[in-house]
Amino acid sequence: MDDFSYIDGKLYAEGTAVDDIITQTGTPAYIYSRNTLENHYRRTAEAFAPLRPIICYSIKSCGNLAILRALAGLGSGFDVVSGGELFRALQAGGDPKGIVFAGVGKTDSEINEALDADILLFNIESEAEFWNIDRICGLRGKTARGALRVNPDVASAGTHVKTLTGKKETKFGVDIDRAAAFYRDAARARHLSLSGLHLHIGSPIKSVQPYVDAITKALGLMDELAREGIVIDTLDIGGGFAAFYEGNEAPSAADYAAAIVPLLRDRGLKIILEPGRSISCNAGILVSRVTYTKQGGSKQFVIADAAMNDLIRPTLYESYHFIWPVNPGGALTPPHRGSSLRTAGDQKVDVVGPVCESGDYLAKDRYLPPLKRGDLIAVFSAGAYGFAMSSQYNARPRAAEVLVSGREWRVVRRRETYHDLIAAEL
Ligand code: LLP
Repeated sequence: MDDFSYIDGKLYAEGTAVDDIITQTGTPAYIYSRNTLENHYRRTAEAFAPLRPIICYSIKSCGNLAILRALAGLGSGFDVVSGGELFRALQAGGDPKGIVFAGVGKTDSEINEALDADILLFNIESEAEFWNIDRICGLRGKTARGALRVNPDVASAGTHVKTLTGKKETKFGVDIDRAAAFYRDAARARHLSLSGLHLHIGSPIKSVQPYVDAITKALGLMDELAREGIVIDTLDIGGGFAAFYEGNEAPSAADYAAAIVPLLRDRGLKIILEPGRSISCNAGILVSRVTYTKQGGSKQFVIADAAMNDLIRPTLYESYHFIWPVNPGGALTPPHRGSSLRTAGDQKVDVVGPVCESGDYLAKDRYLPPLKRGDLIAVFSAGAYGFAMSSQYNARPRAAEVLVSGREWRVVRRRETYHDLIAAEL
């Protein structure tokens, strides 16, 4: 699952003691394990190898340049959703021919930036966008390729309503029953060829069946179009593969591939995958220091120096992130990560941050060993949509980011300063 482990009562990131890093960086800090990141990428690549896919890591999940460079070094392409993410991909040395660009509201300048870079594919989300890109290509004397994002209207149980996307009533893509007409009409375009189909049904999708259902529907649509002479040669199956939050609850890359590969193996399609979370989530932890503890009615609060501005997932999605002390001492090493087993002496606490919102919490009603002022805690499975969604709310400088490789580590984004808070203000 990851390369964070307890040895003699201390948490290690690969071969490096977490508290040695924190002594130098302070808290809060995101710590990433390069080995975990790379292993998750490799497992995905190996599992789907029979399809020879282009794996476009979804930058939105964790976009630090050091992370992107490591993945580019393994041959990863990138899924971007803004001009800023395209900029990050290119800065990290990403090959433009491995970049796909999604998003419902690509602006003209973002489209121009993508044309300048000569990216692989635009994932198209509406008629208006399709014809706008065709128009811009015409003005510039360029051609480009597009894939239509189709909503297959499949059930994806277990996905939070805020991250569900494959249903009809979503702002993303077009309904599958309108898709054939879209392709027919798009055949008139002179500069943008709509030769791909894009799916992204939600995030995370904790079982393989929704992918099977969605891909089966997409292949049916392709067959229907092929009979009319409209050829689709590229299928982008999106991301949404689950990661491990509570334990080993998620299907592995091999599980997803076992169901998906047979559907696509003999179709002769160019296959694209857009995994984000399944690569970066388990590769990162957020380390925070306990500032105070206090009682409130019947509740016991642990007030940490990380808050919703650092990790908003619990506040936004009621997400569960396993939390454990960084230096619990030998006896208190968790039996296994995510275990709901309690050890004698554990206390039921809410772990909260200092932000002025009652929704600012990292964990609710959680059994943890007794914590006191100054103790370090680690919030696990925080590599995806952790730092990436962090903000400066309450004028809190953003956390440092650290990348560990074995016994070596380096700060890959320094902690922001008060001056960073006002740097862009005129
Ligand atoms: N492709 C597209 C078109 C997407 O919209 C997304 C995620 C991905 C790929 C990558 O999905 P992943 O493999 O990471 O699940 N902030 C939420 C997740 C939002 C996902 C948005 N789209 C969270 O923290 O759970």
